[in-house]
Amino acid sequence: MAEADPGKEPKNFHLDKPVESRPFFLKGANALGWGMQNRFSKIFDPKSGRTVMLAIDHGYFQGPTTGLERVDVNIVPILPYCDALMLTRGMLRTTIPSAFTGGIVLRASGGPSILKELSDEELAVDIVDACRLNVAAVTIQVFVGGEFETRSIRNMTRLVDLGYRYGIPVLAVTAVGKNMVRDAKYFRLACRISAELGAQFVKTYYVPEGFETVVASCPVPIIMAGGKKLPELDALTMAYNAVEQGASGVDMGRNIFQSDAPAAMIQAVRKIVHDKMKPSEALELFQTLKSEQR
Ligand code: R5P
Repeated sequence: MAEADPGKEPKNFHLDKPVESRPFFLKGANALGWGMQNRFSKIFDPKSGRTVMLAIDHGYFQGPTTGLERVDVNIVPILPYCDALMLTRGMLRTTIPSAFTGGIVLRASGGPSILKELSDEELAVDIVDACRLNVAAVTIQVFVGGEFETRSIRNMTRLVDLGYRYGIPVLAVTAVGKNMVRDAKYFRLACRISAELGAQFVKTYYVPEGFETVVASCPVPIIMAGGKKLPELDALTMAYNAVEQGASGVDMGRNIFQSDAPAAMIQAVRKIVHDKMKPSEALELFQTLKSEQR
């Protein structure tokens, strides 16, 4: 039994200090519950307010993607450099050490392979399993303008409702079909619809013209999607521009794990996202770290 409080006087109630009520550091997240905010703090660094998320979920529709043939060999060594990891539950359980302390953003949709119409997705995870895996968020594609637009939105709203039940935020990923225009007008539409219908954060592509309007018109944090592999300086410049224009971080896959020096690349991306290092300096850092690895 704990000892009884001896009841000595005077006790100090700090009556001269009003109890502070601080806003949460992320855009649009003040009205969320403690659990959701705490989960967000495992994804976004509360100091910079931004995240470096590493996307390795490609296998859920395209199998062993180049650079992800062996996640244990290629990805596990660079885990210390990411704030959050976006992946499937299969890869999480089989390959990611449970001692990983970053945020897990769990791929919660799936169905069609790359051989079929990708917007034909369904929810692919039970929210209770997401809780069991202690994830920081769940994620789903939203195919605005796609063949199965209404179903993909319905999948997202269902996931948002399930997420609220357990305090798990939902990341909507604005997926773009092969023949669709990728411009600010489209991404404003897709991001705004995702946020209006409940997603607590949104991942979308960078566009050189008007990205800041995509961010401004979306009431929740926007994370920049990486996309296909670019030369390192171009990828670093894209990340820099996105953060400068208001993105709350990046979620990059191929531009990190398909680089010839993934550990060096993710460290250079970190400097841009968290410290706003200029792209040319980040490239120098990349080259230095790359040469040290040899
Ligand atoms: C994007 O829609 C999917 O989630 C991908 O599997 C992945 O996140 C894309 O990453 P990246 O385009 O940076 O390789």
